[in-house]
Amino acid sequence: MPEHGGDIYGIARELGLAPGELLDFSASINPLGFPPGLPSALSQALAEVVHYPDRRCTALREELAAYHGLSPAQILVGNGSTELIYLIPRALRPRRGLIVAPAFGEYDKALRAAGAEVRWHVTAEADGFTLRGPLDPGAAELVFLANPASPSGALVPPEEMAAVVRRLTARGAVAVLDEAFIDFVEEASLKHALSRVPGLMVLRSFTKFFGIPGLRLGYLLGAAELVARVGAVQEPWSVSTLAQAAGRACLAEADFMARSRRMVAEARERFQGQLAGLPGLRVFPSAANYLLLKLAQPGLDAATVRRRLLARGLIIRDASNFRGLNERFVRVAVRRPEENDRLVAALAEILLGASE
Ligand SMILES: Cc1ncc(COP(=O)(O)O)c(C=O)c1O
Repeated sequence: MPEHGGDIYGIARELGLAPGELLDFSASINPLGFPPGLPSALSQALAEVVHYPDRRCTALREELAAYHGLSPAQILVGNGSTELIYLIPRALRPRRGLIVAPAFGEYDKALRAAGAEVRWHVTAEADGFTLRGPLDPGAAELVFLANPASPSGALVPPEEMAAVVRRLTARGAVAVLDEAFIDFVEEASLKHALSRVPGLMVLRSFTKFFGIPGLRLGYLLGAAELVARVGAVQEPWSVSTLAQAAGRACLAEADFMARSRRMVAEARERFQGQLAGLPGLRVFPSAANYLLLKLAQPGLDAATVRRRLLARGLIIRDASNFRGLNERFVRVAVRRPEENDRLVAALAEILLGASE
């Protein structure tokens, strides 16, 4: 089973297809794609690739600081937020880490790679996999949690999340709050709590909301002292000139941001309603651009449904390898309504036993 969604190159090769012949619901990327100003920003920046990139990402950090109402010293830019997920345990060297599950698989790998022992707090299916605080860090010095949660999409209101992280940090832990999908509900970000909670770090990504997984761009927000400690273990030049230019161009696209939020909220609501109407399917509430589904029909597990959809050129994420889930769970991205309709029609055929 693929470890992540979005492996269109590997899957296309296996099936003898071109990547363009597949419709990918396994990675959750803005269905509007990237902002319209991006191509010209990238072509202008191309002349700069004869130099090494600005290793401090100075201009991008200044613009991010203005966008979020923070200072540049509170920001570290990375080669996707994944690079930062690995750098944090490498810099802070926790003996023990705690992960709120089900969760993105790289937290576990990053903690282990830094020699930490990993503990888990598994949220309950009955709560829609929503974190119900307070969360006890036990002996963990570093805690990974996400809002909205991934893969469930569950959103904890910011005041509740602030109480959770305040308690964690008061117990001496550093809390890493992954907000990779928060741009769809920006008002729920904890970025404004950073000055009041010195042990909080917030991870952000350009990948999902700005539709640029192939450029690799993410960043960390936190107290200047913590950010500097993480920056000290980062390899030089990990963020390319083109990625930095892309980030600056994205931040100038207020209209695209508003359109994306509106479009995804509408498409998700429609998709959710269609999926909930299918027999033997439970849909979990989501604030993000993906939906977690539970397959209730006996004999139809995640691997089978994924395989049957793949035969129709549709890729979904088999979510059975997330800790806290099992072989009955899949995750689908919210795409454009006409694309979502294709998935609903194919799933209806499979669930109604009209084929295979
Ligand atoms: C919850 C979550 N965090 C972080 C990432 C990493 O994103 P990137 O490295 O592209 O910024 C992902 C990617 O799937 C994710 O799902």
